[in-house]
Amino acid sequence: MIGMTPLLVFLFSVFSSSIQSETVIPPRQTTFSVTDYGAIGDGKHYNTPHIQAAIDDCHAAGGGSVRFPTGNYLTGTIYLRSGVILNITENATILGGTRLKDYPLESRKWYVVLAEKVTNVLITGWGRIDGQGGKFVKKMDERKNVMVSWNSTGACYGDKCRPRLVGFFDSRNVTVSNVILREPAHSNLHIVRCENTTIDNLILEGDFNIPNNNGVHIQDSNNIVIKDCLIDNGGHAITLKAHTGAVHNLTVIQSELRTRSSAIKLESSSRFGFKGLLFDHITILDSHRGLTLQLHDRGNASDITFSNIEINKDYNDSMSWWKRSEPIYITTCPPAPPHDLNSKVLGGGGGSVTNLQFINISSHSEDGVFLSGSSEGVLSNLKFINVNLTYYRRKPAKDLEEYGLVDCRHRGCRVDGYDDIECQSIAGMILENIDGLLIENMKMRWNKSEHLKGWNRALDFSPSTVNNITLLGFNSGFISHA
Ligand SMILES: *[C@@H]1O[C@H](CO)[C@@H](O)[C@H](O)[C@H]1NC(C)=O
Ligand SMILES: *[C@@H]1O[C@H](CO)[C@@H](O)[C@H](O)[C@H]1NC(C)=O
Ligand SMILES: *[C@@H]1O[C@H](CO)[C@@H](O)[C@H](O)[C@H]1NC(C)=O
Ligand SMILES: *[C@@H]1O[C@H](CO)[C@@H](O)[C@H](O)[C@H]1NC(C)=O
Ligand SMILES: *[C@@H]1O[C@H](CO)[C@@H](O)[C@H](O)[C@H]1NC(C)=O
Ligand SMILES: *[C@@H]1O[C@H](CO)[C@@H](O)[C@H](O)[C@H]1NC(C)=O
Ligand SMILES: *[C@@H]1O[C@H](CO)[C@@H](O)[C@H](O)[C@H]1NC(C)=O
Ligand SMILES: *[C@@H]1O[C@H](CO)[C@@H](O)[C@H](O)[C@H]1NC(C)=O
Ligand SMILES: *[C@@H]1O[C@H](CO)[C@@H](O)[C@H](O)[C@H]1NC(C)=O
Ligand SMILES: *[C@@H]1O[C@H](CO)[C@@H](O)[C@H](O)[C@H]1NC(C)=O
Ligand SMILES: *[C@@H]1O[C@H](CO)[C@@H](O)[C@H](O)[C@H]1NC(C)=O
Ligand SMILES: *[C@@H]1O[C@H](CO)[C@@H](O)[C@H](O)[C@H]1NC(C)=O
Repeated sequence: MIGMTPLLVFLFSVFSSSIQSETVIPPRQTTFSVTDYGAIGDGKHYNTPHIQAAIDDCHAAGGGSVRFPTGNYLTGTIYLRSGVILNITENATILGGTRLKDYPLESRKWYVVLAEKVTNVLITGWGRIDGQGGKFVKKMDERKNVMVSWNSTGACYGDKCRPRLVGFFDSRNVTVSNVILREPAHSNLHIVRCENTTIDNLILEGDFNIPNNNGVHIQDSNNIVIKDCLIDNGGHAITLKAHTGAVHNLTVIQSELRTRSSAIKLESSSRFGFKGLLFDHITILDSHRGLTLQLHDRGNASDITFSNIEINKDYNDSMSWWKRSEPIYITTCPPAPPHDLNSKVLGGGGGSVTNLQFINISSHSEDGVFLSGSSEGVLSNLKFINVNLTYYRRKPAKDLEEYGLVDCRHRGCRVDGYDDIECQSIAGMILENIDGLLIENMKMRWNKSEHLKGWNRALDFSPSTVNNITLLGFNSGFISHA
């Protein structure tokens, strides 16, 4: 089936380079077109071995570019190798297969494009990688689609058993730039245990009704830049997890996030720390939660700045479990008993948060800022400088009973399940277990024309758990309708 043998392609490219001048050493930067390997971009033929052969030859040649010309290239998992540039050109699409047999046996390797232990790789070209997520929908549901689950083999359990789009594991110098990653069946882009990663000029598109449809998921990785991205996904837009190692030195700048879940989330199952993170010049379009730190598993977080961020929590979803929810939400939990009393798995909790700054933030939301440390995981040295918080309702007052006043789902700490949920009324800022909070130049605004019942306290804290608060310029009032 392969049109030209890989060896011929290699010889041809060496030859074509050397005819320019016989004395010049052929450049290492060689191009391998997938169509030369027999790939057919008709969206119907599977091209897995052809694409893989092009990548393997490119790697064997010491690196270069694997080019996808115009066309739709259907494929099972393809493995990216060191030194390879995946050049998916403007009108080319890599289409992820929809059959179980398109993916490796181990479910943790279910990605359309997978890179393990590679260095110096790049995915670019303004083309697309498309997971065909829609084809994994078993039953459409506005609240949450019922998805195909490939758990029949026992490979994995429950409703998360389907392929992701692009994954990098244990790799160095990874760049994903100028591409469109769309319609993942599960989540979109994973960076796990990687060093030196650049993600820029990306469009990540998912479906609001597909569950677990996260945008960028960074785990146990350091030195990361995410810039000029547009992320529009049903799951969290950017999620960070420190599960087997720390996450430090990460910058996210100049990006737009739209999500049905949290725009930025530091995940709860983080046993290691987060340090040195900057989120700057970010616009959050619709979202349920804006900025979330949910440290429920011993990991600490420190030296984190959120600056120049506009949070529009306008997503008005009467279907979901999120209730009204918060623009900024931080919780830590005390140590919990082991998850499984018969195993040596440690319980979570106890993470603390220190040196956190919010500078130049403006938000529109239904619920307030929620800052809740725990006795073992105090929030210390927090700063809110130049912050405008505007509160108004999207859900009608008559639905208070049905929707509750606050997001009860993850409020505070849960030892097991949902048993200690406390649905209190909403305040502009709710503070618990904090040591050192500076608020400098904060404006809180309320929509006067609305029914304020259960919803009209500005600051809510008690001195027994909250120590050393400084307010320098705090103004609360109604929205002026001038
Ligand atoms: C990708 O291919 C296009 C079209 O051939 C070319 O213009 C571009 O320079 C290539 N990019 C890289 C990084 O190789
Ligand atoms: C891609 O397709 C568009 C629309 O058909 C066309 O205008 C453009 O020239 C194509 N680009 C390339 C590189 O073929
Ligand atoms: C990183 O990878 C790119 C290819 O994407 C390469 O051009 C560059 O030289 C690499 N950087 C280092 C420091 O090796
Ligand atoms: C597959 O997932 C479904 C839905 O969560 C569950 O009912 C079933 O027990 C799972 N089967 C296996 C073999 O994991
Ligand atoms: C990551 O990049 C930094 C700065 O460019 C460099 O000093 C370091 O060696 C790189 N780390 C790895 C593991 O490539
Ligand atoms: C932080 O990450 C950036 C981008 O990868 C890198 O250039 C810089 O050297 C890193 N800084 C440290 C202290 O590692
Ligand atoms: C978190 O911080 C506490 C207090 O400084 C420290 O005892 C603990 O080891 C830290 N946890 C991790 C996972 O680094
Ligand atoms: C906050 O905004 C002001 C006014 O636009 C600007 O001068 C300042 O540099 C910003 N601060 C940060 C940390 O970006
Ligand atoms: C807060 O609102 C004031 C106007 O009342 C405006 O001048 C200022 O720039 C706003 N700050 C932010 C961070 O949006
Ligand atoms: C929000 O959704 C509820 C329930 O569907 C609806 O009644 C209400 O009008 C919506 N509010 C806005 C501002 O769209
Ligand atoms: C109170 O908190 C501020 C930060 O807001 C910190 O600079 C100061 O040292 C703290 N004071 C005491 C007595 O802990
Ligand atoms: C304030 O409430 C009024 C009356 O319910 C509504 O018409 C208006 O849109 C609200 N303003 C905002 C900014 O939501």
